[in-house]
Amino acid sequence: MTPLIITKDGSPTFWNPTFGEYYHSITGAKEEAMKKFVEPCELLSRKNPVLLDVCFGWGYNTAAALDVMAEHPVSVIGMEIDNNVLQKIPMTNAPFTSYQFIQKCVRKGYALSNGIWNLSIVVGDVREMIKTIASCSVDCVFLDPFSPKRCPELWTVNVMNELHRVLKQGGLLTTYSCARSVRENLKAAGFHVKDGPCIGRRGPSTIAVR
Ligand SMILES: C[S@@+](CC[C@H](N)C(=O)[O-])C[C@H]1O[C@@H](n2cnc3c(N)ncnc32)[C@H](O)[C@@H]1O
Repeated sequence: MTPLIITKDGSPTFWNPTFGEYYHSITGAKEEAMKKFVEPCELLSRKNPVLLDVCFGWGYNTAAALDVMAEHPVSVIGMEIDNNVLQKIPMTNAPFTSYQFIQKCVRKGYALSNGIWNLSIVVGDVREMIKTIASCSVDCVFLDPFSPKRCPELWTVNVMNELHRVLKQGGLLTTYSCARSVRENLKAAGFHVKDGPCIGRRGPSTIAVR
């Protein structure tokens, strides 16, 4: 059993004993997905966007994006190393209208289209899988590893270089972290970095523009 808590906006999150962190902000898991990852991307202003959800986990960031897109076309590639988490998605009660689509995608073997939304979840290490994505093919990246302290390998300049490579000119990367080292690595990869929204009592999130 994965220990579950209800965050302050009523949405559930889970403890990861290996990394020693919750998967989402305890000030509001759904709120974090919507406000820090999805809303800054202004998805409705993009035509048929391609999204890359780095560290898919329970799929909250993708679910928030699909809820915003509603009847508008969008393609999402999710990358996640832990198949055990993905397998729990069908039994999880997450408060997103689109979550049934994500649950069905997992049940069907990790790829699903309903004619409007395309979702493909790939299982493996982001550092290897990112190399398979074509240059300049992605509109927005949601970058959601565990913290730089607990998961430093996914916040390196090498990873940022690859994320910069796959994004289209004008594409956006959003992440919850405002750590100086994270921002320095984003800048070293060529991104323009700015503050995202302040949610809860924490500092701002980060928006990086290619
Ligand atoms: C903070 S959680 C992501 C939460 C997720 N975005 C959601 O909405 O539920 C971080 C995720 O990164 C995954 N992860 C850790 N190392 C990874 C790696 N090298 N490659 C891909 N995923 C990794 C973990 O298994 C975990 O699911």
